[in-house]
Order: sequence, then structure tokens, then C-alpha cells
Amino acid sequence: MKNQFALDVLEGLNATPKTLPSKYFYDKKGDELFQQIMELEEYYLTRCEYEIFQTHKSDLLKVFANSSHKFNLVEFGAGDGYKTKVLLKHFLSEGANFRYVPIDISGNVLRLLEGSLKEEISGLEVQGIKNDYFKALEQLENGGTRNVIFFLGSNIGNFTYERAIAFLSELYASLRKGDLLLIGFDLKKDPQVILDAYDDREGVTKEFNLNLLDRINNELEGSFDRDTFKHCPSYNPLTGTTESFLVSTEEQTIEIMDSAIHFHAWEAIHTETSQKYSLSNISEMASQVGFSVKENFFDQRHYFVDSVWEK
Ligand code: AVJ
Repeated sequence: MKNQFALDVLEGLNATPKTLPSKYFYDKKGDELFQQIMELEEYYLTRCEYEIFQTHKSDLLKVFANSSHKFNLVEFGAGDGYKTKVLLKHFLSEGANFRYVPIDISGNVLRLLEGSLKEEISGLEVQGIKNDYFKALEQLENGGTRNVIFFLGSNIGNFTYERAIAFLSELYASLRKGDLLLIGFDLKKDPQVILDAYDDREGVTKEFNLNLLDRINNELEGSFDRDTFKHCPSYNPLTGTTESFLVSTEEQTIEIMDSAIHFHAWEAIHTETSQKYSLSNISEMASQVGFSVKENFFDQRHYFVDSVWEK
């Protein structure tokens, strides 16, 4: 794993333009910072999806349990389950016949989640799987039980359009006819609202980006001076693409293990893409992959949508 990190970092920083994969944000410190981001006033995404679940929990259950057959509520990247717990509690109180299958690559995250579920929602059937999403789906023996896959938080937005299509196609292939996917998309909106979400006043998102340089320093013998990098988020309202950059404020050469990486003054490292979507983008993606859009669930301001797709 550490080796893969080194390979990806060196490949990214030797490329033109320079880039670092955003999946490496999430070390222990990065997890903490992301937790703080979700509580920021400017970062509306998490609260919108929480509101959607609160408002539409009954309708969601109707879509998932359209007969008394059992279903698996399978969550990709379950994290702390903050939003999903709203539904789990409601579904259980309605006597729904289902099992919760949180999937995460972090065993620690899963243990914490399972512990809190046991305390907060007694009687819930839980089968956590610590694995890669698609491997976990294979692992899930489910003699005919319908799967309802959750992919929340606009995590899909970290993929480029092509990679999102590839990911969704692979998911489609591993599902059976009648299985459902609930997928969260952050919608196009006032560009200032979006920019603020990635450039909060307290500087937590800046810290989240700079933490990646600290991580490279700590784990890969890097020599980044974080004070010579500026956090610069951008939003293109034509394409709906939010991109974050760390920009070198001066010409410099940094070292990573035995490699030297040169920066021109004001040269940028691309650190993250967070795609925003229109409803037509979403239905086009679904049909391109083969899914049919069953229903869209919005928050009051229509900032965010949880779209339910059927194979
Ligand atoms: C967890 C990928 C959905 O892109 O909005 C938050 C991560 N980056 N602030 C996003 C993130 C900067 C987040 N996702």
C-alpha cells in the first residue's frame, strides 16, 4: 500500500500538469479534517443529503421494499453512517425486511460503525464487509436477495466523466436485474455557493489539501514547505467541474526519497475534482450505462439529488 502511494505520488508529480490523487487525502489526520469539513457552514453537501433522507424516508422505503421480499442495503464507503442511520432507524421501526451491509476498505471504520449501530439501533441485522467495493459484492452471498446499493455524498464526483462511466458499468455488470442503486449527486448551482464550499473561511479545506503534502513529507521522506503552497479552488460553470489546486508561490525544487521535483513559480498541482451535475447529465449517465432512473429525491433548495436507478 505504501509502495503504491509512492508510485502514484511520483508519477503524478512528474506528469504535466502535476497532479496528486485525492484518495490519498484520507489518512488519520485527513479523516479528521474531512469530518470537520462536513460540519462547516459552507459545506452544504452532507446536510442536504441528511435532509433528503429525513424528508423522504417513507418514500424511499416504498421504492426499496416494493414487496415483502428481503433486501440488502449495501453501502459503498459507509464511513460513520451518520446519514444512513436516519433510514436504518425508520426502516426498522416500519418492520422492513432487510439487512444492512456496510462496505469499507478500512477495518477500523467498520468496527467503529458496527459498535455504534449495536448501541443505537438494536435489532438491526448487520453484515459489514472489509474489502474493495466490487470484491465485497462478489463476497456477498445472497441467494436471490435484492440488492440496493448506496453510493452517497457525491463521491462519484471525484471521478472524471469517463472514469465514472467505467465505474458505473462495472457496478451494473455485477448486479442482477431488479437491483437498485441510490446515488448522490451534487447539483449545479450558484457558483459562489460551490466555491465557498471548497474555500471555507476557517481554512479547514485548505488544511485538508495541505495535509497531503505533510503526508508525503512524513511517509515518503518529502521536503515540501507547506508555506510555499497556496490552496486555490476553482469552479467552471460551463462544465460543472470544481477543481482544487496547490500552487507553488515560488520557483523551487523539492525532494521525495531520491527524486527531485522542480516547480516553476506559480506552477500548480491538481489535487481534486468534485464534479457538479445537471439532471440531464444524470439521466444521460444512467442510460449510457444501462440503468433506468426510477425516482429523484431532492432537498428543499434543490442543491443535491439522491437518484434511484434500477437495473
Ligand atoms: C467526499 C469527495 C464528496 O468532493 O466534496 C470535501 C471531498 N473535498 N472538501 C467532495 C471534499 C474538499 C468531497 N467528497
